Amino acid sequence: MKRATSIFFPNLPSKIPNSLPRHVAIIMDGNGRWATQRGLPRIAGHYQGAEVVKDILRCCKDWGIKVLTVYAFSTENWGRPTVEVNFLMRLFERLLRDQLEEMQQQGVCLSLLGELDALPLSLQREMQRAINLTCQNQEVYFNVAINYSGRQEIVRACRQVAKRVEQGELKADAIDEIIIQQSLYTLDLPAPDLLIRTSGEMRLSNFLLWQLAYTEIYFTNTLWADFNREEFRKAIEDYQMRDRRFGKL
Ligand code: FPP
Repeated sequence: MKRATSIFFPNLPSKIPNSLPRHVAIIMDGNGRWATQRGLPRIAGHYQGAEVVKDILRCCKDWGIKVLTVYAFSTENWGRPTVEVNFLMRLFERLLRDQLEEMQQQGVCLSLLGELDALPLSLQREMQRAINLTCQNQEVYFNVAINYSGRQEIVRACRQVAKRVEQGELKADAIDEIIIQQSLYTLDLPAPDLLIRTSGEMRLSNFLLWQLAYTEIYFTNTLWADFNREEFRKAIEDYQMRDRRFGKL
């Protein structure tokens, strides 16, 4: 069987062979159910989910996975109860503040994908600070999608490209996939090799619609708040058994 692209990463624990995904994207689903099952408010699930994010990010550093992109808040999530939305916004802000030092130590370069202007100002300030301080780091590229919609991202890219055509900087016939790709939030990062969605749901939910064109997808029933290194290892091992043909034979 043909294996996924082989890249050498020196820091791997011996059980994980060489063909690692360069970029893993995650739809972190099931926090609310995790909390409800324990008789806790839904926000307790998000709190626990944040602990899992920290561990999976460390794991990427340890194993040599270069890019991690997580779906933290979709444009549709504004429709949740105000108390939950407010909690999430405060949680994001606190995490950015509290994790900054560790991100620096671990060489994490943070990027945020989404319409950030609509977020609370104090959160926007914390985001900008974290982006500025981590932008030179190169160990792990950590993308957090907040107030993100895959369709909106494509519309935004089209507008940017259309403006360049209007200004005479670009000919319509010269528009190709690379130009569109470089107008997306993910710019020149490689597309995800592996998408993980937890909690048994099997859909894309408007996440990275362009970037996921040839991504391998792994669904697990495990709720995000219960996800851990062992579950992550299983997902990677499953990916490593895939035969990636990109539409060819
Ligand atoms: C989906 O579970 C989860 C979210 C909408 C929020 C995810 C946020 C975190 C894990 C917090 C920290 C993250 C970062 C990156 C700073 P759900 O609430 O839809 O679960 P349910 O389907 O069981 O209701």
